[in-house]
Amino acid sequence: MSEQPDRAAWFEGGDTKCDVPPSPRERVYRLVLLGPPGVGKGTQAELLCKTLGTCHLSTGDVFRAAQCQSEHSPALRSALEAMRRGELVSDGLVVSMVSERSGCLVCGGGFLLDGFPRTAAQAEALDELLEQQGVGLDAVLSYELPLTEIVGRLSGRRTCSKCKAVFHATARPPQKEGVCDLCGAPLIQREDDRPESSRVRMQAYEESTRPLADYYQQTGRLVSISAEGTPETILERSLGALQERAVASRA
Ligand code: AP5
Repeated sequence: MSEQPDRAAWFEGGDTKCDVPPSPRERVYRLVLLGPPGVGKGTQAELLCKTLGTCHLSTGDVFRAAQCQSEHSPALRSALEAMRRGELVSDGLVVSMVSERSGCLVCGGGFLLDGFPRTAAQAEALDELLEQQGVGLDAVLSYELPLTEIVGRLSGRRTCSKCKAVFHATARPPQKEGVCDLCGAPLIQREDDRPESSRVRMQAYEESTRPLADYYQQTGRLVSISAEGTPETILERSLGALQERAVASRA
């Protein structure tokens, strides 16, 4: 999206470097966002990144960008098929994709991981990568919302076919129906937002990802946040929780 800092290294991997100037901020944040599909992680990631200057590292965005490539390796093809069905991509592929991009974990502006980790194996792999890079997580922000509201957010989501900006048919409508406010391209419904795929995604979340809350609770990194209310209210709640955590760690 247009107001994101340079995310070239995250999208392209390999030796690609981002053009990130040294952060003018006193504090650099390294965060993970946890929560069910459609709870609003991407929306909060965008707001938090604008406020904190962190880089938005979304594994789902990398896979969606790969969909547009003209050729797919067999491994990527099977990952994209799993994604369309609403299933998780294999741990092996996701972990190697993030490992190839582990330089992003020492980004000068900090980072905000969205959609990774999603399984116990991925959480362990992330801890190893962080240790190798000599950095730690400041917090894991875990968003919670009743299922009925999540279903409404998923079914109303509309995504720009070009720049991937996210809207909602009623809660965050574009100025002109069906057209992206930012780049003018048509808005579409994500394939995995159809009811049959959404059900599979929710089940995968309950089975594989929800247990991670316990893992991060036990290691003192979990911060639970209600995702009810407007995106701006939730942002304030998130920033308040980070502030409280910083004060408590100094006490
Ligand atoms: P991914 O892209 O990570 O999707 P997700 O976690 O399912 O999350 P979503 O993007 O669906 O929702 P969100 O919480 O970001 O909500 P949003 O802000 O858009 O992953 C997609 C797929 O990729 C996976 O299913 C899997 O196949 C694969 N994958 C990715 N990472 C993987 C991994 N690590 N391991 C294995 N597989 C992996 O908001 C939703 C809607 O609600 C929007 O319309 C928005 O405008 C609206 N909204 C947001 N906040 C509010 C609010 N406060 N009030 C009202 N409406 C709101």
